[in-house]
Amino acid sequence: MLHTRVVFTEQEKKWLLEHHIARETDNKAALIYPMGAERFLSSVLFGNRKWQNNYDIRADIEDKDVLVIPGYGNSSFLFAAAGAKSVTVYDKDPVTITWMRAFKKYYHYRGNKGKRKGFPSIGELLDALTCGYPPVGILPTGKLRQLLLRLFNPQALRRSYIFYMLLLVRQAVEKDIKDDFDLNKDIQFYVGGLQQLLVEQKNKCFDTAFVPYLLGVENGIEEKQAIVDFVKKLVKIVPNGHLLITPSRSTKEFRVVGKRYFVTTGYDSIQAIPELQPYVIKENRHWFETQGLMILGENNG
Ligand SMILES: C[S@@+](CC[C@H](N)C(=O)[O-])C[C@H]1O[C@@H](n2cnc3c(N)ncnc32)[C@H](O)[C@@H]1O
Repeated sequence: MLHTRVVFTEQEKKWLLEHHIARETDNKAALIYPMGAERFLSSVLFGNRKWQNNYDIRADIEDKDVLVIPGYGNSSFLFAAAGAKSVTVYDKDPVTITWMRAFKKYYHYRGNKGKRKGFPSIGELLDALTCGYPPVGILPTGKLRQLLLRLFNPQALRRSYIFYMLLLVRQAVEKDIKDDFDLNKDIQFYVGGLQQLLVEQKNKCFDTAFVPYLLGVENGIEEKQAIVDFVKKLVKIVPNGHLLITPSRSTKEFRVVGKRYFVTTGYDSIQAIPELQPYVIKENRHWFETQGLMILGENNG
């Protein structure tokens, strides 16, 4: 397994120590912890799928070389846990990638308090945050408060777990602890978009590419022609596998009300873009309620 020791630059240390989470690329909050999409992904990867009407993504992940672009959130950790052979992660925002690297490097770190029984590691906090309703008792103190928050304000409970996770990272950086806490999985994080990947990973091919919330999404690749160019380049480095693209359609979150996610192209769905039709294998319309998952490939026959 490729195992590289992560050494943070002074700038990266500063971001981690100051809990800086504004993206360099557009000054929006970096998406560094599990959200609804990752919760859903986790339920498809590890849940009971008998009652689910969803695409079985596990066949694209188990024992496969997986590319995740963009690599925010914890999808890469979920894929590694689901048995990916390797996970290569690209995101164009350096702050996002710095936090992802830190979570991997300190995954098993429990901090000073961890010497006492019951204090969680960063990985355990990520797992708790992947649950819709974060479990109570992850922090062994203040259980009554956690219970009340879970009942009346689960978002506040999530925030307290996120805050504790960021505190653990800060402590680990301050103490300059060594790599004994690393998650022992082949996950490599890189700053950049597809163009950088094509230069840096010359001649490398992947079995699967997972592309969440990038195409047709605000602050992602918004224009139709840029999306077409992206897909045409990406299929070349996934010659025998699948491109898994979500969201795939412009439908409201709760059918009548709520947010739309595939919003920037003017098309109703990815497969409505004529230049992409030769690559369409199938669409799973029920992926994460109405958001949809498009499965594309070079060999769609
Ligand atoms: C596209 S944003 C979409 C989610 C949401 N609309 C937002 O603005 O946060 C999701 C992630 O994509 C990354 N990203 C944006 N454009 C990219 C590109 N061309 N290549 C790789 N990652 C990109 C961002 O840094 C961010 O982490």
